[in-house]
Amino acid sequence: MSDSEAGESVSSPTPGTAVAADDSGDNARAAEPIIKARGINVFYGETQALRNISMEIPEKRVTALIGPSGCGKSTFLRCINRMNDLIPSARVEGELLFENKNVYDEDVDPVALRRKIGMVFQQPNPFPKSIYDNVAYGLQIQGYEGDIDARVEEALRGAALWDEVKDQLNSSGLDLSGGQQQRLCIARAIAPDPDVVLMDEPASALDPVATSQIEDLIADISKEFTVVIVTHNMQQAARISDKTAVFLTGGELVEFGDTNKIFENPSSQKVEDYITGKFG
Ligand SMILES: Nc1ncnc2c1ncn2[C@@H]1O[C@H](COP(=O)(O)OP(=O)(O)OP(=O)(O)O)[C@@H](O)[C@H]1O
Ligand SMILES: [Mg+2]
Repeated sequence: MSDSEAGESVSSPTPGTAVAADDSGDNARAAEPIIKARGINVFYGETQALRNISMEIPEKRVTALIGPSGCGKSTFLRCINRMNDLIPSARVEGELLFENKNVYDEDVDPVALRRKIGMVFQQPNPFPKSIYDNVAYGLQIQGYEGDIDARVEEALRGAALWDEVKDQLNSSGLDLSGGQQQRLCIARAIAPDPDVVLMDEPASALDPVATSQIEDLIADISKEFTVVIVTHNMQQAARISDKTAVFLTGGELVEFGDTNKIFENPSSQKVEDYITGKFG
């Protein structure tokens, strides 16, 4: 530490240098990968949906998956918490490391894995239960021994919904607006305190106000959780993500990197064409 202080005092006469030093400190802080995909291939029956996907997803950051319809974004998202297990024709090859353990190892319990890697879908899908029960349910089935009321409140606050629903916790989750329902689903996903939250187009069914609330919320929860989000909305990806993965037709990952770089100066011509709307 005294070394770096000495270093800083040497460079301090130039204000620019101090800024640069701050920047590099920020980069250094950036993010151990929490998820590493290595050579992932996914088949539905004979049809290959993903080809040799490798990428490293940083912890407590937002990673966006973008690309045209059918390029395999949802398929990749489902690889991460083994939701593809639920599709009989799906077969996954390669390694998907979560905290350096392959989630496809035989000793991994997919139910326990999904507690650590929660998911939010495109259509808000609250259970036909009370607001309270929607959030408490996951805690109850996992035998949570803490104060469930407190945890429900914390999750609803985390999902920026508490103030709107605190006086109606016993009314049905289905009576909320679409945007509120989606925030309820986010509260449900974060209540068990997962490490990662996967979101598959979580705002695409919502109006612009609700969409912007969800975007703010994602920025907020990424301080605590790793977020991997599929979106068709380029501006949204550019606004909210730190890293962007661009998949293109055929199930290939064409480019993966810092969001600014992908949107301002992509390496691949195909990515540039996609981002500027020339196809897709
Ligand atoms: N359950 C399934 N059974 C068979 N094929 C599937 C299944 N789910 C997806 N596929 C196929 O796998 C490929 C990738 O689909 P996926 O849903 O992952 O794409 P996507 O990028 O999420 O598309 P969209 O943007 O439209 O949601 C497509 O060709 C699709 O038809
Ligand atoms: Mg999809």
